[in-house]
Amino acid sequence: MEKCRLLLFDLDGTLLRSDKTISRATLNALRDCREKGMWIGISTSRSEQNALAFIEELQPDLLITSGGALVKYKGEYVYRAGFSKETTRRMIGLAREVCGQDCQITIDTADAHYWNYKIEPKKQDPSWGESVYTDFMDFEESALKMCVEIFEEAQAKQLAKLLDGCDCVRFSDGYWYKFTKKEATKEQAIRELCSICGIGTNEITAFGDDYADIGMLKLCGTGIAMGNAVSDVKKQADLVIGSNDEDSIANYLSLLLTIRRAEMKTLVVYYSQSGNAQWMAQRISSALSADLLRLVPKKAYPAKGFGKYFLGGGSAVMKEAPELEPYTADLKQYGRIVFVTPVWAGTFTPPLRTFIQTENLEGKQFGFAACSLGGSAEKAFAALKSLLGVTGDVPTLWLVEPKQKQKQENERAIEEFCGKL
Ligand SMILES: Cc1cc2nc3c(=O)[nH]c(=O)nc-3n(C[C@H](O)[C@H](O)[C@H](O)COP(=O)(O)O)c2cc1C
Repeated sequence: MEKCRLLLFDLDGTLLRSDKTISRATLNALRDCREKGMWIGISTSRSEQNALAFIEELQPDLLITSGGALVKYKGEYVYRAGFSKETTRRMIGLAREVCGQDCQITIDTADAHYWNYKIEPKKQDPSWGESVYTDFMDFEESALKMCVEIFEEAQAKQLAKLLDGCDCVRFSDGYWYKFTKKEATKEQAIRELCSICGIGTNEITAFGDDYADIGMLKLCGTGIAMGNAVSDVKKQADLVIGSNDEDSIANYLSLLLTIRRAEMKTLVVYYSQSGNAQWMAQRISSALSADLLRLVPKKAYPAKGFGKYFLGGGSAVMKEAPELEPYTADLKQYGRIVFVTPVWAGTFTPPLRTFIQTENLEGKQFGFAACSLGGSAEKAFAALKSLLGVTGDVPTLWLVEPKQKQKQENERAIEEFCGKL
């Protein structure tokens, strides 16, 4: 299975249930995936304004709105494919000529969603954000997307022909058709995003249900159609799961995490002076069938006498990064690194600092284990998190002189720790 770095969701008919809410199980599954380092993205035909409730709820890392006409990454707009004011006016004029002067039209701009609605939108869908009512008579805005309600297929075909520079897709729900620039599709927006944030399209798992999602599902490494998707979408997808009302996304994500856990190769990296951390590292590596890497400083820390605590403790407090004896480890093959260290002067040992500063550990998951004479390892774990730049929870294990004081409860604690990784 290709490594999934980004989970990308259409909203209506996909991430949203029919009542336009996201289930608790789905939210929990998304949180778990995020904790495991995956990014969460939204890819919707809604305008940003009309998706605000879900943007606030999900805090997505990436956002594709207006069917691909607007793309946001790290809070900044990075791609926009819109029409000029003149073209927008022309498009509205043509829509009215073909579909009748009173046909319903919506226009997304970068800041607002305009609509000559007949029924207050929030009455139909409470999740809908602000729509500004307009009769489009003197419309002076640049559109990202125009949607037109068209009941006759022949009229839709005629309008698409007149607007031949546009990408025209029908929404299966109702009689709405969207018109965006040809290059404003979800799949094109994904290509733009990938080039900016360094993700390969094969590292994306995308979920969708409607015609506008077909290109996205075909482009991404894994394209998943909902059970309620239109049949053309199902035909093009790599996998069809249950409907949007059945927690199918939550179930799929929990399976994905289980498979990843089983497949992930682990490296246990440790420094030990008198054998306790080594004892833990060996136990952990055998429980996880993981590889072991011992870090050895070129200049050994004194193992006895006054210098033992003074020099080692000082080196840890001063955040020294001692030179290490050469080691061989192909870090690329490991998805998870477990660091095992004695506590020195309340923190982790300096050889780990050298390793972390030297190696590229981006995208890896971590676990921390420490041993001490009795002093807490919390500060050591916090310092490791900060050096690694990790913000989420990391599984931890702290034992007191485990090699000297062998206890059954230590074995249980190791087992429990490995289970959390
Ligand atoms: C330089 C140095 C500093 C230490 N600082 C602490 C400490 O702050 N708190 C603590 O409880 N133990 C401290 N210890 C004890 C070790 O953390 C403990 O003996 C650990 O189990 C040793 O692991 P090892 O056998 O793998 O070297 C220190 C030991 C050394 C050598």
